[in-house]
Amino acid sequence: MVAAGRPRRSCLAVPGSSLKMLDKARGLPADQVFLDLEDAVAPLAKPEARKNVVAALNEGDWGDKTRVVRVNDLTTEWTYRDVVEVVEGAGANLDCVMLPKVQSAAHIEWLDLTLTQIEKTIGLPVGGIGIEAQIENAAGLVNVDAIAAASPRVETIIFGPADFMASINMRSMVVGGLIPDYPGDPYHYILMRLLMAARMHDKQAIDGPFLQIRDVDAFRAVAKRSAALGFDGKWVLHPGQIDAANEIYAPAQDDYDRAELILDAYEHATSEAGGKLGAVMLGDEMIDEASRKMALVIAAKGRAAGL
Ligand code: GLV
Ligand code: MG
Repeated sequence: MVAAGRPRRSCLAVPGSSLKMLDKARGLPADQVFLDLEDAVAPLAKPEARKNVVAALNEGDWGDKTRVVRVNDLTTEWTYRDVVEVVEGAGANLDCVMLPKVQSAAHIEWLDLTLTQIEKTIGLPVGGIGIEAQIENAAGLVNVDAIAAASPRVETIIFGPADFMASINMRSMVVGGLIPDYPGDPYHYILMRLLMAARMHDKQAIDGPFLQIRDVDAFRAVAKRSAALGFDGKWVLHPGQIDAANEIYAPAQDDYDRAELILDAYEHATSEAGGKLGAVMLGDEMIDEASRKMALVIAAKGRAAGL
């Protein structure tokens, strides 16, 4: 199934405590910005960061970017105030709330109900604000199907590699990178598990951050792995990673052109045969209904990226 939804090839993290970065983020070519109240903001700076985020959403022109705020997780004392202050203050200028360290469907249900109450109180359409669910520990991964299904507001399932690695005691300090002592890709299972839950429930799947922000080649290598599996986008922590993400999570031009060709050829050949042909030849390649579906995925992503 093609995961529809807002473009999210590059999802830029912006600390809510930095007025300078909040201001700069507006002009950057990321598909999505998420203004962070969680781990990029020190505990004592959180009240001020909430105010900055509300002001930034209301005052700034974010163009057609997807506008998201990451609140603190539900094991802290900050979550409810984050949600109430940000959504009451700037709900009309907010697309989604991102909830980190989601461990069960109950976490999503809490956020869904709270959003509904605020939307009713301030006169916004009920259900208009979406939810992005970050999976960052074993409980979140084990419960990911129920989390994805917990509310129609859920738009994305996001991998949080740094917290995840810490929570399962993975022995590496390179977040998102390969581990020299391990012969395979240590993230393969996690990424595929998240992707299956996302696709089963028609959500987008988003890869998390790569922390070595000056090494864009290494970022590209990591991003290509999740893009190849079918992920829709990746976090970017630095402007230097944005162009790479926008390129890597869109299909290559050749693949896109081929996909459009397959769709045209299949449609033409099958309709000419009056619906009696299931498989036809395109050059040396046999194409059938499954080829059409594969081509549709690439074509949809390419069209969304403006190829
Ligand atoms: C992101 O939040 C991460 O923990 O990787
Ligand atoms: Mg995290």
